[in-house]
Amino acid sequence: MLVEKNVALRAFNTFHIVAKAHTLVHISGEADVRELLAEPELGTLPKFILGGGSNIVLTGDVKPVVLKVEITGRRLVQETSKAFIVEAGAGENWHDFVTWTLAQGYPGLENLALIPGTAGAAPVQNIGAYGVELQDRFESVDAIDLQTGQVFTLNAAQCAFGYRDSVFKHSSVATSSLGAGDHQALGLKDRALILRVRLRLPRPWKPVLGYADLDKKMAIHVCAVPSAQQLYDWVCEIRRAKLPDPQVMGNVGSFFKNPTVTPEQCADIIARDPKVTYYHLTDGTIKLAAGWLIDSCGWRGKSVGNAGVYEKQALVLVNLGGNDAACGTGTTGGEVMTLARAIQTSVYERFGIRLEPEPVIV
Ligand code: EPU
Repeated sequence: MLVEKNVALRAFNTFHIVAKAHTLVHISGEADVRELLAEPELGTLPKFILGGGSNIVLTGDVKPVVLKVEITGRRLVQETSKAFIVEAGAGENWHDFVTWTLAQGYPGLENLALIPGTAGAAPVQNIGAYGVELQDRFESVDAIDLQTGQVFTLNAAQCAFGYRDSVFKHSSVATSSLGAGDHQALGLKDRALILRVRLRLPRPWKPVLGYADLDKKMAIHVCAVPSAQQLYDWVCEIRRAKLPDPQVMGNVGSFFKNPTVTPEQCADIIARDPKVTYYHLTDGTIKLAAGWLIDSCGWRGKSVGNAGVYEKQALVLVNLGGNDAACGTGTTGGEVMTLARAIQTSVYERFGIRLEPEPVIV
């Protein structure tokens, strides 16, 4: 277990916000977690789990002990006529894992290519793109209780997946230690550290199409049934064209969730602006494109200090101040949150919709 003090976090969050961890512990396996819990000084302190830092906004130095998850490993767990079950250590880079599965001949994750972050963080926010969510491919996770050191396994129901949501995003009010069967009822935020993620990739493989951007690619390439590799390439191309590369311009992907409204609310918004982009969901509700709402309030390209609204996608907030010390301090969490609140206010005043941030505000 490697423990460091006063660690700069700029390189460990994809917004490249300057902040420090008072204490950072590198976690390369469950033995490190158990060793940490046995430490008289650190064991009982509050903890903050850091994966790829691609879904957090740091608003100051992080006082809880930062656990930097560096657990590696990827393998085929099981192969049946119905599915490949594959497993990734929580610290594996998600996109590299997707690339590896395809190279091994285990297709099914191609729509989720190029999403920044780690495999362990993927279930936390139930990552999703181009018609596939992590929960659609989920088998189970192994996690470790940060109070007792007990390792347990959760299935999809126990993870309580929702749109960019899971049990790992919610705090628990209970103080007792976790027992078998308790996990479903409790929020596990900062309480359980994900060690390994297993995914079920159904056989025979079927492409997931029907998303407008992919349909356009199909039309351009005059392709009736694309291969998994073809879909992977298209998804990478679409993302590269629309979304800023965090290595070049700090960001955390979509900054707000797409809000869900009733048909009546949608009719009200159409009356205010008939060009609104929306999608009918199977439960009868309607999802609005938050990017469109923000865009139509005139935010694209606007900024507060070094925090800006990305010029090509209004749902993405970016760091205009560069990614490393040579470029200056970049944006602060305060600037990002000021910009985010101003966007929320203007969307609320124009459409009566409250946008909810998608990343975790630390
Ligand atoms: N739009 C605008 N102006 C903008 C941005 C978008 O009018 O500035 C319109 C687009 O023209 C389009 C609609 O809004 O008609 C939706 O845009 P897009 O297809 O880019 O998808 P999104 O709803 O903005 C969601 C996810 C992304 C995911 C894409 C593709 C959320 C919060 N975001 O974005 O996920 O990659 O769909 O599936 O659900 C992420 O979570 O970080 C993320 C990037």
